[in-house]
Amino acid sequence: MKFKLSLLLSLMLITALSLIIAACGSPEEPEVRDISTDLSEDEIINHAFKEDFPLQYNSYLKNLEPSGKVTSKFISDIEPNLPILFNNYGFMLEYNKTRGHTNAVEDVNNIKRINDSSIGSCMTCKSTAVPLLIEEMGDDYWGASFREEIFPKTVALGEGYEVEELGEYGHISVGCSDCHNPQTMELRITRPSFVNAMERQGIDVSEASKNDMRSYVCAQCHVEYYFHPDNGKVTFPWDNGLKPEEMFEYKENQAIEMGFDYDWEHSISGAPMLKAQHPEFEISSYGPHGEAGVACADCHMPYERTDGRRKISSHHWGSPLLNPEQSCRACHSDKTADELKDRVYDIQRSHLDAMDETQEASVRAHYYVNRMITAGAPDEKIEEAQYYVRKGQWFWDIIAAENSDGFHNPQGGMDSMRMSAEASHQAIYIASNELTKLDEDLEELERQIEETVQSVYDEEDPYSKHEHATNDYFPNVLELDND
Ligand code: HEC
Ligand code: HEC
Ligand code: HEC
Ligand code: HEC
Repeated sequence: MKFKLSLLLSLMLITALSLIIAACGSPEEPEVRDISTDLSEDEIINHAFKEDFPLQYNSYLKNLEPSGKVTSKFISDIEPNLPILFNNYGFMLEYNKTRGHTNAVEDVNNIKRINDSSIGSCMTCKSTAVPLLIEEMGDDYWGASFREEIFPKTVALGEGYEVEELGEYGHISVGCSDCHNPQTMELRITRPSFVNAMERQGIDVSEASKNDMRSYVCAQCHVEYYFHPDNGKVTFPWDNGLKPEEMFEYKENQAIEMGFDYDWEHSISGAPMLKAQHPEFEISSYGPHGEAGVACADCHMPYERTDGRRKISSHHWGSPLLNPEQSCRACHSDKTADELKDRVYDIQRSHLDAMDETQEASVRAHYYVNRMITAGAPDEKIEEAQYYVRKGQWFWDIIAAENSDGFHNPQGGMDSMRMSAEASHQAIYIASNELTKLDEDLEELERQIEETVQSVYDEEDPYSKHEHATNDYFPNVLELDND
């Protein structure tokens, strides 16, 4: 009920917002003199581009700020339920907010999710060295050992070029050659997974318009993917479409047919779970801006005047709200910067409220199924409930993992979270019926869930929170004897 109310409110909000009239002029393009370079076609070192393009390079350096700060998502005002929801998966160990492109290699190297069995695919959206590694190793790149092979090779390709101003590994982190041909500086696609996924939909990205390229360069990385079961290759689940329900259908059918059943098994519910990753491209593609053909770069790389005279595309990718004059008012000149920011905050507030509710429903669903298992409910009922746990979590995770907190597609986010809540409540409903038949005390179950969740919240060390998600009330079901 509570969920329905917030859904209704946000529908009203979205209707009100659509009254904003987009007065979309076409902003004057930056001036580029001779854009061709004498660089090698294989240039991957970011500061090799400094001399030719000092303005874009200096803008790029701003991605280092704020330095040294990694923010865990597990703290109470972000998403405190995650150590429960990702229990038994790497994401229960460490899950942080994004930082700038220049930090990508440093961050992937330091995160606790990387272990001895991590594979090359994990480097794919982090370093300019990746296209060269794929060229050299072919399809062996994807499944190769991250620690033993891929990380050392990546670092070796950058050896001798470290410059302090770019920070640790900034010289080979997401950068110029990922999006530009180093000789012509035309936008280009360097990641085969994107090319292949588009090809399967009949789209030849080498024919893309200039405007599409202003989003496609981002869609190489800011997308949902999974590792192909044959060789670990990064694969996009887009064959049925880009919406959460279409990607879910893919995972339930095509992915399973090729041998990909789940990302991990959940230790509380035993459900075969799917993990969603940062689908900014997919979710924004059918939002109000995506439908209107507004590109990622329009908001995230607005034109700015740098040395007082020349205009460049900003190469500081971050929140457009830091600079709404350029990022938003180029099109929405009828609104003040403050009005536009307030619109975004309103959307994000109702989005995050709905997110809290859907995550809580998933938490309860996991524990209800745990009790079905320990109380001895019939296997087929357990499996049915586990399916709804998997489905419920997919539909909020694909939205929670999207980094705009609802702005890229307010209605799409709400639709997905409605599907999430329905599925999770279905799991709880099935469990409640079975537990009632077994004379389990549901009020006591709710009390135990509350106590368990509180103990996760109360743990101050973010890296230890997950240890409190299972306990005497709710044992790790993967470790139970089958007797
Ligand atoms: C390149 C032009 C362009 C830029 C840049 C742009 N917008 Fe828009 N905006 C549009 C268009 C076009 C629409 C769709 C209008 C419609 O469908 O009625 C729109 C719609 C909106 C809406 C209404 C959404 C809805 O649900 O109907 C809001 C709110 C909005 N923009 C805010 C922003 C903010 C905030 C920024 C900066 C972060 C921004 N826009 C940047 C062109 C732009
Ligand atoms: C994530 C993708 C991406 C990365 C990384 C990137 N660029 Fe760009 N760059 C773009 C986009 C998008 C444009 C706008 C192109 C357009 O509209 O045609 C652009 C435009 C440019 C232009 C044309 C002039 C302008 O400012 O619009 C130059 C020069 C340029 N970038 C240099 C660089 C340099 C140097 C680096 C590395 C320090 C770099 N870029 C890194 C995406 C990227
Ligand atoms: C080669 C892969 C790659 C490409 C291409 C790419 N990104 Fe990213 N992006 C990343 C990674 C990885 C991170 C997170 C880095 C971290 O947290 O260390 C990130 C982070 C971001 C952030 C968050 C920055 C912050 O300060 O929190 C924004 C915004 C962003 N990217 C926008 C874009 C846009 C817009 C494009 C296209 C013009 C783009 N990215 C292209 C990989 C990529
Ligand atoms: C109409 C403007 C607009 C367009 C188009 C747009 N974004 Fe965003 N994006 C935003 C706003 C506004 C936010 C929220 C920023 C905040 O919360 O401070 C955001 C947030 C993000 C973030 C998280 C940034 C952070 O600091 O954590 C990423 C990553 C991102 N967008 C990537 C993309 C990509 C990739 C595309 C294209 C597929 C895209 N965006 C298209 C306006 C836009």
